[in-house]
Amino acid sequence: MKTIKVGVLGFGTVGSGVVRLLLEKREMLSRRLGTDLVLARIADQDLERPRPVTVPRELLTPRAQDILDDPEIDIVVELIGGLDPARDYMLTAIDRGKHVVTANKALLAHHGNELLAAATAKGVEIAFEAAVCGGIPIIVALRQGLAANRIQELFGILNGTCNFILTQMSQHGMSYAQALAEAQAAGYAEADPTLDVEGIDTAHKLTILMSLAYGARLDLEAIAVEGISRLDPLDLQFAREFGYRLKLLAITRDDGHRVEARVHPTLVPKGHMLSQVNGAMNAVYLTGDAAGPILLYGQGAGMMPTASAVVSDILDLARNLTHGAAGRVPPLGCRLALESTRLIKPMNDLVTNYYFRFAALDRPGVLSQVSGILGKYAISIAAVIQKGRVQGEAGTVPIVMITHEAREADALQALKEIDRLTVVSPPAIFYRIEDPHLHAAQI
Ligand code: HSE
Repeated sequence: MKTIKVGVLGFGTVGSGVVRLLLEKREMLSRRLGTDLVLARIADQDLERPRPVTVPRELLTPRAQDILDDPEIDIVVELIGGLDPARDYMLTAIDRGKHVVTANKALLAHHGNELLAAATAKGVEIAFEAAVCGGIPIIVALRQGLAANRIQELFGILNGTCNFILTQMSQHGMSYAQALAEAQAAGYAEADPTLDVEGIDTAHKLTILMSLAYGARLDLEAIAVEGISRLDPLDLQFAREFGYRLKLLAITRDDGHRVEARVHPTLVPKGHMLSQVNGAMNAVYLTGDAAGPILLYGQGAGMMPTASAVVSDILDLARNLTHGAAGRVPPLGCRLALESTRLIKPMNDLVTNYYFRFAALDRPGVLSQVSGILGKYAISIAAVIQKGRVQGEAGTVPIVMITHEAREADALQALKEIDRLTVVSPPAIFYRIEDPHLHAAQI
C-alpha cells in the first residue's frame, strides 16, 4: 500500500487542530482512504510555545523549506495565513509538483487566479474548503453537490466576529465598542479587528463563493463592501421594531445577465432563518434553480471546525492521488472558470428596499418635506415611525422609514437632498433590506 505524506506549514490554532486529527484519526482516515495517510513534517518558526497537541519532536522544523524541498511529501497544507510568505510557499510547492490545501481566503481572493493557473499548468490541485465558513462544507456543496444548478442567489453570514458583535448589540442593547470588547474577550475578534469588522474578510469569502457559484475568475474588486464599525445600536432597535434583524450579509444574485456582489449590514425579516443565526455562528442560504432553497449552518471558525475542513481536503486530494485523478473536479467547479468573468451590476443600479433614519426637527410639515423629496425620486414609503422628543440630539427626533423598492442611485440622490433641508441634521442613515414581502425576489 502506497503511503501519502502530508507536510503542514503553520502550527498555530488551526494547524494544531489539523495535526491532532491527522495523528489521532490516522487509522480511521487511512481506512477511509485505503492508503496510509502520514503526517510527515510540521513547520513553524516558533516551536517553543505551548500547544494543545503533543507531537514527536522529529516531526517539527522551524524551516518551511524542509517541507517544500522534501520530495517524499505529496500534500502541503498552508496554514500560515496572510499574503506573504504564504503565496511564495504555495507557488514553490506547486512548482515542485505538490498538491496544496489552504485555509487562506485573503490569499485566494487576492492571488487565487495566479495560484490556480500555476496549479493547473503543473497538473496539481489546490483545495480550500477551510477558507470559507470553517466547518461548513460549502465549497464542496457548490463545487459538486449543486453542479446541476444555476445559483440564483446566495446570502451568507460569513464572519463569526461580526455576527457575534451584532447579536450582542441587538439582544443586549450594547454599543458597538462594548460588543467589540466582548468579542475580543471571547477570543473571536483580533486585537486589530479591521479585516473582520470592515467586511473585508466577508468580501474575501464572497469572492470565492461567487467564483464557485458562477464558474468565473476570482474578482475581489467587484464587491462593494461596508462593515459594521459605524453601526448605532439605535438602528438595531428600530430594525427590531419594524420586525427585522440587522446582519452583515454577503449577497450575490444573478438576474440572468448581471450579478450583484455586495457585503453590507442588511435588514432581514425576523422570521427568516438567517435572522436566527446568532453569536459567532455562520450560515449560507442559497437558491439553486433545480434544488431550490438550501441553508447551511455551522461553526465558521475555531480550531476543530476549521481543521475538519482542512482534513476533508487532505483526504480528497489523497483519494485523487491514489487514483491518479488529480484535477478530476476543477478547483472552481468549472473547467473554464479562469477564462470567464461575470458582468457585475453596479451598486447604483441595485433595486432594493431601504431603511432610512433622519434626525429631524419636530415641527409641522417636516415629514411632508422629507416625503416630498422621496416622492420626487419615485421612492414610496412602506412604513414610518417617529419617536418622541427626548430621543434625538440637538432638539431633533428620529424619523425612521422602510421603503418599497427603489433604485440605489435614486435613494442616494434623495438622501443627499434631504440632508440639505434645514429641518434635518445630516447625515441620513440608510441600510438595505432583503425582504420577500417587500419585493419580488425571494430570500
Ligand atoms: N475571523 C473570521 C470570523 C474567521 O470571525 O469569522 C476566519 O475566517
